[in-house]
Amino acid sequence: MKRTTEFEFSAGLRWTHWLRAIAIVVLTVTGFYLAYVFIVPQASDEPVLFLNAKFRMWHEIAGFLLIAVTIFKIYLFFADRTSLKERVAFLDILSPKIWFQQIKYYLFIGEHPKLRGAYNPIQFIAYIGLYMMLILVSITGMILYVHSYQAGGIGGALYDYMRPIEAMMGGLSMVRGIHHITMWGILIFIPVHIYMAIFNSIMGREGSIDAIISGYRFNKSHKR
Ligand code: HEM
Repeated sequence: MKRTTEFEFSAGLRWTHWLRAIAIVVLTVTGFYLAYVFIVPQASDEPVLFLNAKFRMWHEIAGFLLIAVTIFKIYLFFADRTSLKERVAFLDILSPKIWFQQIKYYLFIGEHPKLRGAYNPIQFIAYIGLYMMLILVSITGMILYVHSYQAGGIGGALYDYMRPIEAMMGGLSMVRGIHHITMWGILIFIPVHIYMAIFNSIMGREGSIDAIISGYRFNKSHKR
């Protein structure tokens, strides 16, 4: 059988995907440490250890990387020509018929629906949920950040904007709790996301995982 390829994901989309994946791994490992200090260095009389500060530093570096990449990805979604396939996928959310066909496909009792864009409606809604969690974790992260670095720089610039949001969330302790719970929301998304990517690659035989690496997908037999 002859296989044709189709360019699906732009370089910007693929870079932002993998940079975010790396940032989230770093944030989760360092975040668990900040929540529960699971390594304690050997005691020393000299003030040179700063292990907590180092974990916090890497958490904040990865945090601002995540924020920058997420802003850029949102820009691409609305402005990039190749990302038109993502925008068009929104139209399928409005079709109850496609919803039913997609659910039947996942239950192994129906064919894959003919889609207009890059994502099916269930996938699109899951991604909207992910973005809401990313925005929440970023805002709560910045609130926590400005409490350590309000004297100048980014912390100083953000301080006056973050404090009212902190008050609306019920105070700093609540903000920390929301930040932590949102991490779990993201951690639940990841295995489901990986399972679905593998499921679709095997069932659809279109190289869905290849597309997020090379940009190209095989035969688009179920696309309109
Ligand atoms: C996937 C994204 C993220 C995850 C999984 C994550 C996870 C966590 C966790 C579990 C904690 C400890 C909270 C607790 O005490 O229970 C934490 C603290 C913190 N996070 Fe995040 N975080 C993320 C994103 C961010 C972002 C975007 C920023 C912004 C720069 C940020 C800044 C902070 C700061 C400043 C703290 C407090 C550190 C401290 O208490 O010394 N985080 N994070």
